[in-house]
Amino acid sequence: MLIFLVGFMGCGKSTVARGLSQLSDYDFIDLDQRVCQLASTQSVAEIFATLGEAEFRRLERVAIETLPREGNVVVATGGGAPCYGDNMELLNSMGKTVYLKMSPLALRDRLLHVRIVRPKIVGLGPEELLDYVTATLTEREPFYGRASVVVDCDNIPSRTIISRLRYLTKSR
Ligand code: S3P
Repeated sequence: MLIFLVGFMGCGKSTVARGLSQLSDYDFIDLDQRVCQLASTQSVAEIFATLGEAEFRRLERVAIETLPREGNVVVATGGGAPCYGDNMELLNSMGKTVYLKMSPLALRDRLLHVRIVRPKIVGLGPEELLDYVTATLTEREPFYGRASVVVDCDNIPSRTIISRLRYLTKSR
Protein backbone atom coordinates (compact mmCIF):
# COMPACT_ATOMS: atom_id res chain seq x y z
CA MET A 1 0.00 0.00 0.00
CA LEU A 2 1.08 3.55 -0.71
CA ILE A 3 0.43 6.26 1.87
CA PHE A 4 0.88 9.87 0.75
CA LEU A 5 1.39 12.64 3.28
CA VAL A 6 0.24 15.97 1.89
CA GLY A 7 0.17 19.46 3.36
CA PHE A 8 1.86 22.82 3.41
CA MET A 9 5.63 23.34 3.59
CA GLY A 10 6.78 22.93 7.18
CA CYS A 11 3.84 20.85 8.44
CA GLY A 12 6.13 17.90 9.18
CA LYS A 13 5.44 15.59 6.23
CA SER A 14 9.01 14.28 5.99
CA THR A 15 9.43 13.68 9.74
CA VAL A 16 6.06 11.96 10.08
CA ALA A 17 6.52 9.92 6.87
CA ARG A 18 9.96 8.75 7.94
CA GLY A 19 8.78 7.89 11.47
CA LEU A 20 5.66 6.06 10.29
CA SER A 21 7.64 4.08 7.72
CA GLN A 22 10.18 2.99 10.36
CA LEU A 23 7.49 1.99 12.84
CA SER A 24 5.53 0.08 10.22
CA ASP A 25 8.42 -1.49 8.33
CA TYR A 26 7.39 0.41 5.21
CA ASP A 27 9.75 2.04 2.72
CA PHE A 28 10.08 5.82 2.76
CA ILE A 29 10.16 8.02 -0.34
CA ASP A 30 10.66 11.78 -0.43
CA LEU A 31 9.03 13.09 -3.60
CA ASP A 32 11.28 16.18 -3.75
CA GLN A 33 14.31 13.87 -3.78
CA ARG A 34 12.82 11.94 -6.69
CA VAL A 35 12.36 15.20 -8.59
CA CYS A 36 16.02 16.07 -7.91
CA GLN A 37 17.05 12.66 -9.24
CA LEU A 38 14.99 13.20 -12.41
CA ALA A 39 16.65 16.59 -12.92
CA SER A 40 20.10 15.28 -11.92
CA THR A 41 20.43 18.10 -9.39
CA GLN A 42 21.27 18.29 -5.70
CA SER A 43 18.40 20.47 -4.54
CA VAL A 44 14.93 21.80 -5.29
CA ALA A 45 16.36 25.32 -5.02
CA GLU A 46 18.75 24.52 -7.88
CA ILE A 47 15.89 23.27 -10.07
CA PHE A 48 13.88 26.44 -9.42
CA ALA A 49 16.93 28.61 -10.18
CA THR A 50 18.14 26.85 -13.31
CA LEU A 51 15.04 25.28 -14.88
CA GLY A 52 12.19 27.32 -13.36
CA GLU A 53 9.07 26.38 -11.42
CA ALA A 54 7.08 25.16 -14.46
CA GLU A 55 9.74 22.56 -15.18
CA PHE A 56 9.84 21.63 -11.49
CA ARG A 57 6.07 21.01 -11.59
CA ARG A 58 6.39 18.93 -14.78
CA LEU A 59 9.08 16.78 -13.17
CA GLU A 60 7.05 16.53 -9.97
CA ARG A 61 4.21 15.02 -11.99
CA VAL A 62 6.61 12.55 -13.63
CA ALA A 63 7.96 11.67 -10.18
CA ILE A 64 4.42 10.81 -9.00
CA GLU A 65 3.65 8.80 -12.14
CA THR A 66 6.83 6.76 -11.81
CA LEU A 67 6.45 5.84 -8.12
CA PRO A 68 6.41 2.10 -7.44
CA ARG A 69 2.82 0.81 -7.46
CA GLU A 70 3.63 -2.29 -5.47
CA GLY A 71 4.93 -2.73 -1.96
CA ASN A 72 4.43 -0.73 1.21
CA VAL A 73 5.62 2.84 1.03
CA VAL A 74 5.06 6.09 2.91
CA VAL A 75 5.61 9.04 0.56
CA ALA A 76 6.32 12.59 1.75
CA THR A 77 5.04 14.83 -1.06
CA GLY A 78 6.14 18.41 -1.73
CA GLY A 79 3.80 21.11 -0.42
CA GLY A 80 2.61 22.08 -3.90
CA ALA A 81 2.45 18.59 -5.39
CA PRO A 82 -1.28 17.90 -4.88
CA CYS A 83 -2.26 21.38 -6.10
CA TYR A 84 -1.26 21.21 -9.78
CA GLY A 85 -3.23 19.60 -12.61
CA ASP A 86 -5.06 16.51 -11.42
CA ASN A 87 -2.22 15.38 -9.17
CA MET A 88 -4.49 15.04 -6.14
CA GLU A 89 -6.85 12.72 -8.04
CA LEU A 90 -3.86 10.69 -9.17
CA LEU A 91 -2.54 10.41 -5.59
CA ASN A 92 -5.99 9.36 -4.38
CA SER A 93 -6.17 6.69 -7.08
CA MET A 94 -2.72 5.33 -6.20
CA GLY A 95 -3.08 5.02 -2.44
CA LYS A 96 -4.25 6.54 0.82
CA THR A 97 -3.77 10.30 1.20
CA VAL A 98 -3.29 11.98 4.57
CA TYR A 99 -3.45 15.76 5.05
CA LEU A 100 -1.31 17.07 7.90
CA LYS A 101 -3.34 20.19 8.67
CA MET A 102 -1.72 23.16 10.40
CA SER A 103 -2.75 26.79 10.92
CA PRO A 104 -0.96 29.63 9.08
CA LEU A 105 0.56 30.92 12.34
CA ALA A 106 1.98 27.56 13.36
CA LEU A 107 3.34 27.02 9.84
CA ARG A 108 4.90 30.46 9.78
CA ASP A 109 6.66 29.88 13.10
CA ARG A 110 8.10 26.58 11.89
CA LEU A 111 9.08 27.93 8.48
CA LEU A 112 10.96 30.92 9.93
CA HIS A 113 13.85 28.59 10.73
CA VAL A 114 14.01 26.76 7.41
CA ARG A 115 13.03 29.31 4.78
CA ILE A 116 16.55 29.50 3.36
CA VAL A 117 16.30 26.11 1.60
CA ARG A 118 12.80 26.71 0.23
CA PRO A 119 12.73 28.76 -2.97
CA LYS A 120 9.09 29.83 -2.57
CA ILE A 121 9.78 31.66 0.69
CA VAL A 122 13.49 32.46 0.76
CA GLY A 123 14.11 36.06 1.86
CA LEU A 124 10.63 36.73 3.31
CA GLY A 125 10.45 38.46 6.70
CA PRO A 126 8.12 37.20 9.48
CA GLU A 127 5.12 39.34 8.41
CA GLU A 128 5.55 38.66 4.69
CA LEU A 129 5.92 34.99 5.44
CA LEU A 130 2.65 34.94 7.37
CA ASP A 131 0.90 36.74 4.49
CA TYR A 132 2.36 34.27 1.98
CA VAL A 133 1.35 31.23 4.05
CA THR A 134 -2.16 32.56 4.70
CA ALA A 135 -2.83 33.39 1.03
CA THR A 136 -1.26 30.24 -0.40
CA LEU A 137 -2.91 27.95 2.13
CA THR A 138 -6.30 29.42 1.16
CA GLU A 139 -5.60 28.47 -2.47
CA ARG A 140 -4.31 25.02 -1.59
CA GLU A 141 -6.80 23.91 1.09
CA PRO A 142 -9.38 22.72 -1.50
CA PHE A 143 -6.77 20.28 -2.83
CA TYR A 144 -5.41 19.13 0.53
CA GLY A 145 -9.00 18.79 1.75
CA ARG A 146 -9.61 15.97 -0.73
CA ALA A 147 -7.31 13.69 1.25
CA SER A 148 -8.97 10.60 2.67
CA VAL A 149 -7.62 11.32 6.17
CA VAL A 150 -7.19 14.77 7.76
CA VAL A 151 -5.08 15.15 10.90
CA ASP A 152 -5.01 18.36 12.95
CA CYS A 153 -1.35 18.92 13.77
CA ASP A 154 -1.22 22.27 15.62
CA ASN A 155 0.75 21.89 18.87
CA ILE A 156 0.98 18.12 18.49
CA PRO A 157 4.41 16.47 18.54
CA SER A 158 5.38 14.38 15.49
CA ARG A 159 5.59 11.19 17.56
CA THR A 160 1.93 11.59 18.58
CA ILE A 161 0.88 12.13 14.97
CA ILE A 162 2.85 9.05 13.96
CA SER A 163 1.09 6.89 16.55
CA ARG A 164 -2.29 8.32 15.51
CA LEU A 165 -1.58 7.23 11.92
CA ARG A 166 -0.26 3.82 12.87
CA TYR A 167 -3.69 2.20 12.34
CA LEU A 168 -3.35 2.88 8.61
CA THR A 169 -0.46 0.44 8.29
CA LYS A 170 -1.59 -2.04 10.95
CA SER A 171 -4.76 -3.15 9.23
CA ARG A 172 -2.88 -4.58 6.22
C1 S3P B 1 6.94 23.63 -2.43
C2 S3P B 1 7.22 22.83 -1.35
C3 S3P B 1 8.50 22.11 -1.20
C4 S3P B 1 9.13 21.81 -2.57
C5 S3P B 1 9.22 23.10 -3.38
C6 S3P B 1 7.86 23.74 -3.59
C7 S3P B 1 5.65 24.35 -2.49
O1 S3P B 1 8.31 20.88 -0.51
O2 S3P B 1 8.40 20.84 -3.27
O3 S3P B 1 10.08 23.95 -2.70
O4 S3P B 1 5.25 24.81 -3.58
O5 S3P B 1 4.98 24.44 -1.44
P1 S3P B 1 8.12 20.80 1.10
O6 S3P B 1 6.66 20.93 1.38
O7 S3P B 1 8.65 19.45 1.44
O8 S3P B 1 8.93 21.90 1.69
